[in-house]
Amino acid sequence: MIGVGATHHGATHHEADLGQSVLLKASGITKTFRADGVSVPAVRGVDLVLRRGEFAAIMGPSGSGKSTLLHLLGGLERPTSGEIWLDGRRVDGLSQAKWAVLRRRHIGFVFQFFNLVSNMTVADNVELAALMGGANKRQARERRDELLADLGLSAKADAAPARLSGGEQQRVALARALANRPSLLLADEPTGNLDSAGSQSVLRLITRAHADGQAILLVTHDARVACAAERVISLFDGMVADDAAMRPPRRPPAARPSATLPAVLRLRG
Ligand SMILES: Nc1ncnc2c1ncn2[C@@H]1O[C@H](COP(=O)(O)OP(=O)(O)O)[C@@H](O)[C@H]1O
Ligand SMILES: [Mg+2]
Repeated sequence: MIGVGATHHGATHHEADLGQSVLLKASGITKTFRADGVSVPAVRGVDLVLRRGEFAAIMGPSGSGKSTLLHLLGGLERPTSGEIWLDGRRVDGLSQAKWAVLRRRHIGFVFQFFNLVSNMTVADNVELAALMGGANKRQARERRDELLADLGLSAKADAAPARLSGGEQQRVALARALANRPSLLLADEPTGNLDSAGSQSVLRLITRAHADGQAILLVTHDARVACAAERVISLFDGMVADDAAMRPPRRPPAARPSATLPAVLRLRG
């Protein structure tokens, strides 16, 4: 649990349907960058609800605001306007320090450009994330070894990140993001630099995290990755252009209407 899960005013009908299963909620979030006196509206009013354990993919052309949206939801950028709620707690106004604590404990973030700690080994990058998430030394080592083995990186454990290929660094970034078993994984194009074998191992690990009940929101251009998601959100010009269920959620709450799904899908799950 994050925070106390207190209810708040202004609950919408949609939210009432979802009840306690809401993990992340964004209402009317915008982000306008100002560079050299020019304003760049990167995110222009996004409403989004992600249920606990849900797996959603964000797709959209380059420059449509995908990375910015993910940064806002992970507290790496502050929205220009709008609200973000995480596990029933309003978080858009939190200080950087409070966000850092939230991320360490509850959110795994895979950056588009890895952001590994360059003067630490691969193994230490992953182990540190587990330790910062609250694991003890033994648990952190076990978690590290398990993740590196799953991603085919055991042989690179003692290497410096700079000695790894882009695809290998990307897998280390995923291992690091999953090290604290986050209830929310935010991943920005986690297979963007991978060959097909590398993509498979990343997808396998993400699918397993999903099976373990972790919610996943990932940006991808890869149709195979999007196909593994339950839901695909299309972003265009900083706005949600489409939000489509791919199949019923893993554990559908009784109140959730399924009338929009084809009958053949409704019978499954
Ligand atoms: N730090 C920034 N300063 C100014 N403009 C930015 C910044 N980050 C992103 N942008 C602009 O915001 C828009 C959306 O960018 P981004 O979120 O990176 O898109 P995507 O990830 O979909 O390619 C682009 O026009 C980009 O140039
Ligand atoms: Mg991007």
